Parts: sequence; C-alpha cells; structure tokens
Amino acid sequence: MASPPFPPLPTLPTSAVSSGFRVSKEHLTTIVPVAVAAVLGTYLVRRYLSGGSSGPKGHVNLTVKKDSSKVVHSFDMEDIGSKAVYCRCWRSKKFPYCDGAHAKHNEETGDNVGPLIIKKKDA
Ligand code: FES
Repeated sequence: MASPPFPPLPTLPTSAVSSGFRVSKEHLTTIVPVAVAAVLGTYLVRRYLSGGSSGPKGHVNLTVKKDSSKVVHSFDMEDIGSKAVYCRCWRSKKFPYCDGAHAKHNEETGDNVGPLIIKKKDA
C-alpha cells in the first residue's frame, strides 16, 4: 500500500491539562464558538459605534445617483481635452468633476482626500 503524499495531521488530544484545569474536546466545542462569537460581536459593535468607514452607514457615496445600483462614469480620452479634474471624495455638487468640496470634507473629518487630475503632458 502506497503512503500518503503528506504526513498525517496531528490529532487533537482528548484532553489537556493546564494549570490544573482540565479541558476536554466537549469543552472546546463550546468554548471555540463562544470565543468566535465574542470576537465577531466586539468587532461589529465597534464598527457600528464608529459609524462605519465613512458615511452614516459606512457609505462613501452620500448623495450621487442614490437611486442607481452602481455609479459609473466613462470618458473617451479624446473628449477630455488638455486637463480634467475628477472628484474622489464624493462630495462635489458637479460630480464626477471636482468642485473643491473635498477641502470642507477634509476640514470637518480630518481626512486627506483630493481630486484625480488628468492632463496632457504639455498642459
Ligand atoms: Fe471631491 Fe474635490 S470635490 S475631490
């Protein structure tokens, strides 16, 4: 009979003794899910209390085309001209173009976002 390509995985001992406290497999089947739930719960509560990553629900986009499932803009390079300034903070009233609203957002939040500027080399 051929041997398996990898050595067998170590097996979990039926019990372990630590500081006089005996931990059995049955205890581990209870402790591990409770520990995972506690860590996950702590993470979710902290995330909820911090208001998510950006917006009230963790949304980056607070106002632009909220009735759409995805906001996408596409431009042909030939139509951009010599320079175009695109918003990356999602606060511009002229989105997808930057109108300078990022400055107020940065001042209020301590963020550091700014526009994407695309220009021809000679512009
Ligand atoms: Fe959004 Fe300038 S207004 S990056």
